This record gives sequence, C-alpha cells and structure tokens, in this order.
Amino acid sequence: MSSFPIFNIFLVTLVLLAKSNTLEEDTVNMLVILPKDNTYMFSIDRVKPAIEYALRTVKGNDSLLPGVTFSVTYQNSDCGNTALFNLVDTAVQLQKPDVILGPVCEYAAALVARLASHWNIPMVSAGALATGFTHKAEEYTHLTRVSPAYSKMGEMFLAMFKYHQWDRAMLLYSDDKLERNCYFTIEGVHQSFKEEGYTMNVQDFDETKHVDAEGIVHSIKSEGERGQSSERILVIMCASSDTVRNIMLAAHRQGMTNCNCVFFNIELFNSSTYGNGSWKRGDKYDLEAKKAYSSLQTVTLLRSVKPEFETFSIEVKRSVQKLILNDDDYVNMFVEGFHDAIILYALAFHEILKSGLSKKDGAKVVQQMWNRTYEGIAGPVSIDANGDRYGDFSVIAMTDPEAGTQEVIGDYYGLQGRFDMRSNVKLPWGHGRLKIDYPKTDQGNTCKSCGLGESAVTGIVVGAFLGTGLLMTFYFFRKKYRITIERRNRQDDIGKHRQLREDSIRSHFSAA
Ligand SMILES: *[C@@H]1O[C@H](CO)[C@@H](O)[C@H](O)[C@H]1NC(C)=O
Ligand SMILES: *[C@@H]1O[C@H](CO)[C@@H](O)[C@H](O)[C@H]1NC(C)=O
Ligand SMILES: *[C@@H]1O[C@H](CO)[C@@H](O)[C@H](O)[C@H]1NC(C)=O
Ligand SMILES: *[C@@H]1O[C@H](CO)[C@@H](O)[C@H](O)[C@H]1NC(C)=O
Repeated sequence: MSSFPIFNIFLVTLVLLAKSNTLEEDTVNMLVILPKDNTYMFSIDRVKPAIEYALRTVKGNDSLLPGVTFSVTYQNSDCGNTALFNLVDTAVQLQKPDVILGPVCEYAAALVARLASHWNIPMVSAGALATGFTHKAEEYTHLTRVSPAYSKMGEMFLAMFKYHQWDRAMLLYSDDKLERNCYFTIEGVHQSFKEEGYTMNVQDFDETKHVDAEGIVHSIKSEGERGQSSERILVIMCASSDTVRNIMLAAHRQGMTNCNCVFFNIELFNSSTYGNGSWKRGDKYDLEAKKAYSSLQTVTLLRSVKPEFETFSIEVKRSVQKLILNDDDYVNMFVEGFHDAIILYALAFHEILKSGLSKKDGAKVVQQMWNRTYEGIAGPVSIDANGDRYGDFSVIAMTDPEAGTQEVIGDYYGLQGRFDMRSNVKLPWGHGRLKIDYPKTDQGNTCKSCGLGESAVTGIVVGAFLGTGLLMTFYFFRKKYRITIERRNRQDDIGKHRQLREDSIRSHFSAA
C-alpha cells in the first residue's frame, strides 16, 4: 500500500519534467547584442554582470514570473552592420529571440530596431539615443529606450534658454563621421530649439585633425559683436575633454569668459572626464584653465543612489575587475540601464501572462513597457507614452574658484520639468552665470515631443539636423570655414558616411 503514493509522486514528477522540457513558453530567449570590444563603456563584459544580477532579482521574486526561465545569448554588435548580421545568424542557427537587449550605437541599433519591428520582437536599449528614434511609427515600433535620449536633454536646454531669456545659442561639436556621438548629442539640442522656432549657429570640427580653438572662439566672439552688446549668448559644446579645455583656454585668453556668454559642456556618460580636476593636466596652462573653467557648466545625467544600488555596484565592480578592466566607471549609465531593461521586460511580461497572452505577442509586451514608472536599481524609472525614458540631468559647476572644486549645483527632473538647486551649494555667482532656481516655464506640457500627431515633427529624422547645421554655418562663418564646409559636403556625397546615413538611419536631408 505505502508504495502507491511514492509511485504517484514519481509519476507526477516525470510528467512535470516532461512538461517543462517541452513547454517552450517557460523559457524566454533573450538576445543581448553589444560590442565585444571593451573600450566601449557598454561592452558585453561590462554589462553582463548587471544582466545576471537583474535576472537573479527577477527569479528571486516568487510572484513576478514563477516558472519562467531566461535563456540568454550574447552576440557581438560591434558598432555597425555586425549587429544585424549576428541577429540574423542567431535567428537562423538557434531561433528568433523573444526579446532583444541592445545595441547601443546608433547605426547598429537602427538596423536591429527595424528587424525587431518586422519580426514583432520587443527591443530594449540603454542606447539608441539619437533623435531619429523618437519617431517610433513604422520603423522603430518595438524599441523602448531606458536611458534618456538626447532630445530629452535638448528640452532641458530649451527650458533654461527660455527662462534666462538668452538671446542666442551656438553649438560646437566634434564629428568623427563614424559613430558620431557628439553629432547626435547636439542634434538633440538643435531639434528642441528648432521645434520652437529658434535658429542657432552651428559649428563642427574634426578632432582627428588640428582643432583651431582660437579660431572657433574668435568666430563666436565676432558673432556676438554683430548683435547688440547686451546680447547674451549660450554656447553648448560636445567634444573630448582636451578640446573642451583648449576652447575654454582660448575663450579665457580672448576675454570671452567675462562677456555675456554662458559656456556649457555636455558629458553625459563618462564621469572621469568631468568634475574635480577636469581642468588639470599638469601643464603650464593649469592656472589659466582653472580660471577659465569657473565659467563652464557641465551637463551630465543625474546619478541617484539608494542602498540597493551599493550592493549592485559592488557586485558589478567585482566581476568586471576580474577581467582586467581598470577604470572608475564600472557602473555607468549603460550598465545600470540594461539592468533596468530586464526589470521592465519582466514587469511587462508578467502583465502579459496574467492576461493570457504569450511572449510571442511582441507588440503587446511593448505596450506594457510604455507609459509606466517602476523602480530601477538606482531609483524610479519613468517611461513616457512613446516608450522613451524621461531624462533627469545634473549641472556641475565650479563652486570654489580658489581650489577649483566642482560640484553638482542643480538637477533637472524631466518628468516634472523642474529644476532644483542643491541646497548645500554656496555659489559665487558672477557675471553671465547660470542660475537655476525656477520651474520650467511650460510646466504641465511634459510630453512635447512624444505626441505622434504633431505634424511639425513628422518627416524630420536623423540627418535633417546636419543639413540645417551646414547651411547655417555656411551663412554665418567666415570664408575660411566656408571652404572646409563645401569640401566636407562633397565628401559626404561620395563618402562612406553618406551611404551609412541613408542606409541605416533614414535621412530626408541628404536628398536635398
Ligand atoms: C573616459 O574619459 C577618460 C578621460 O578623458 C578617458 O581616458 C577614457 O578612455 C574615457 N572612457 C571611455 C570608456 O570612453
Ligand atoms: C515582485 O513582483 C511584483 C510584481 O509582480 C512587485 O509588485 C513586487 O514589488 C516584487 N517584489 C519585490 C520584493 O521586488
Ligand atoms: C569635488 O570635491 C568636493 C570636495 O572634496 C566634493 O564635495 C564634490 O562632490 C566633488 N565633485 C564632484 C563632481 O565629484
Ligand atoms: C498613460 O497612463 C495614464 C495612467 O497611468 C493614463 O491616464 C494615460 O491615458 C496613459 N497615456 C497613454 C498615451 O496611453
């Protein structure tokens, strides 16, 4: 008699085992597609510990996805076409993934996002920050961005510009014509201003060649002199820290740091390039640079910390250190973002299973990820109704001109559209400095760029900015620059880059 129950248990176990082996529903195939190359802040080696951490968290929650396991495949995205090829190879050799994490690089992400839409697979990235991805309809329908896109940063600059009633804005950026990080960064600012009818001066330069910092500053100066003397100019830069320093030095020498100019530097991700001592190089210009940097503000992503984050950060650091990567930025925004991407997917998938649908209902899963706020590893993460994260940013400035210390002086909260000054900061505000102690002027209208019905934004895609940028530079700068620009334009026509632009991220401009 007593052998019966044991036999029954045995049978039930067998049946259960067989079931879990055959029921594919229980396994989510996740493809993580990021660069192998560890010089990228978001390489596989750097992000993997965060992904494993997040998956453990999901597994540890009995009510979230009971019985569901994740099968993760890592593939090299490089920063271009490789991403697409590896996605297709994975689909052919294994199977189509149920969810794709990455890529980060714009051109790689554009290709993958299109195929993900076509295959009805949700794609979540902590990158793909270019403005072109804001227009989700048709091409990028399945893309969710868990890091603040460049256009969100543009909204912050616009809010500051309007509040301070600055008269003019100038954009300076370096363009490598390859990955084009600064190009896309500045495009976000340009787009926000353009939507509101502001025109701005734009100047790009090639850092692989000699950058004529004196010449650049001179052109800003003569631009300022063309207008009324009371005109206040906002200068926004995106370049390597060395170039920013050279430009600031030149600005200081030409007396620009005492004029009605406000200098901003954008450095969203690499925290080793801003803050204390970013002016210091141990050369003979240090003293001058310290003075110059007292009129420079740096915009970066807001970093928040909660107790849980410490555990996460220690663990990620331990894993990454094993791989002989030694730098300070172990837990950067990308690492954090991909952790939060998994939590977001898990929450969405939970809802999907509850409503009787399956992981194959890609579009439905995507819908669940949009327009929601949830708890990420470092704090709340808010995704807008267009599937893009609201951006929180911090402004760093020199708070002690003697010592040259730099501190966060204020924070911008995208969801509320609000600036908060840090209370502990005593500011030696001088002429032409930024003061941020005000609410955004158009509060309530927090979703400016996500309304799909806005006809003004339809048709403006990545690349449109370059056209305007070149045209305006053409008008505003001296002959010296004009020649360079014409030459560059022609190079673009025949060069590899134009092909990339048209093939990878649709561009209306290049047809013009
Ligand atoms: C971050 O900036 C530092 C200083 O400019 C540089 O040495 C380092 O390579 C940068 N890291 C990445 C991942 O770009
Ligand atoms: C577990 O997941 C549920 C969502 O299904 C969530 O509400 C809850 O906060 C999670 N628990 C923990 C400890 O994270
Ligand atoms: C710079 O150093 C000061 C004092 O050591 C510190 O309070 C501040 O947070 C540092 N700034 C940054 C941006 O790390
Ligand atoms: C977003 O969610 C809120 C409630 O959380 C809802 O009122 C609103 O209609 C949603 N917006 C869209 C565009 O779905």
